[in-house]
Amino acid sequence: MLVNTPPMGWNTWNTFAENINESVICRAADRIVELGLDKVGYQYVVIDDCWSERERDPKTHKIVPDHIKFPNGMKVVADYIHSKGLKFGMYSCDGVRTCANYPGSYDHEFLDAETFAEFGCDFLKYDNCFKPEHFAGPVLYRRMGNALRQCGRDILFSACNWGAENTWAWIRSTGAHMYRSTGDIFDSFASFAAIAKSQVPKFAFSGPQCFNDMDMLTVGMFNEGHVARGGCTFEEYRTEFALWALMGTPLMLGCNLETIKPEVLELITNRELIAFNQDPECRPAYPVQVFGAPDGVPDRLVLARMLADGDYAVGFFNLMDHEANMHCLFEQMGFPVLSGYGLRFTDVFTGEDLGLKQELLHLGKLVPHSCRVFRAHPEKV
Ligand code: GLA
Repeated sequence: MLVNTPPMGWNTWNTFAENINESVICRAADRIVELGLDKVGYQYVVIDDCWSERERDPKTHKIVPDHIKFPNGMKVVADYIHSKGLKFGMYSCDGVRTCANYPGSYDHEFLDAETFAEFGCDFLKYDNCFKPEHFAGPVLYRRMGNALRQCGRDILFSACNWGAENTWAWIRSTGAHMYRSTGDIFDSFASFAAIAKSQVPKFAFSGPQCFNDMDMLTVGMFNEGHVARGGCTFEEYRTEFALWALMGTPLMLGCNLETIKPEVLELITNRELIAFNQDPECRPAYPVQVFGAPDGVPDRLVLARMLADGDYAVGFFNLMDHEANMHCLFEQMGFPVLSGYGLRFTDVFTGEDLGLKQELLHLGKLVPHSCRVFRAHPEKV
């Protein structure tokens, strides 16, 4: 299976956690289509933890869907999602139990992969709770990677071991198509900002067939749902979505699609941000300015990224709690003054053309937790 750009979709966990059932999932699929999210690339509908009975079937040893939450079984759910032109994702774990204490796939990897294929599953998120300590993570992820390759169906392998055991160093070798690189996200500015900052130096280890996954987005949750921790302002959600888009991490939505606000819908369907995220070359974003944090990732974060068509994505993120002056020196991007080139900046949110700039773009002050993001086009001056 080829996964050439970061996967996009929606996952149950952030909003619903254990409160999932057939109608929650099918309604999410309906909403993805009603809202036009499928048209801009969101395609996976993923059921996270808590979908099965508490124990395996004693005779077949298979994992069985909870008969109250999913009275018609999983194939019916998969068929419904497929009938909407979408893809169906499920969840398991490399340990003896899942994180929420349902059966894990440890020592049942090949049987479970076959079961997921029978359900009509297209995506498997694979967690890391209750893993026997004597087992190395790489071996267990290779087991499931092999099982998925042998199961007779194309199933995207979404590893979720939170960056443990230096995931980035070996995860590509397991067949995983994306890998969670951090602990869980919560719905607060501090949570998503810390996650993004921690991964800025790691994006050289992300690319086609295996993407660094900074977790499901909390964008648009406004402190409702399972991962609520105070919530964010709309301005902060803009910053979160822009960071995820520019950094080229999978765009898995986590908000409630029934109650989504119009401005949130506009944000998550921003065509320029999605184009950056889905850029065919999948080049990593890099920090342009150090701003007094020579050994780390600064809170005044300027990220740039080379795009396939010759343009650049440039984002200015003020992650500080106070106003900050922001600028970008083109020298830092490899465009010295003597190159004879300047950059023309177009704001991805407003369409405003800042004109052709030479040597640097001085943006002035950004309010706390906000961002500005541009497409920069090189032109001879
Ligand atoms: C872990 C994962 C989360 C979620 C829960 C489910 O914490 O990191 O994304 O899947 O388990 O229990």
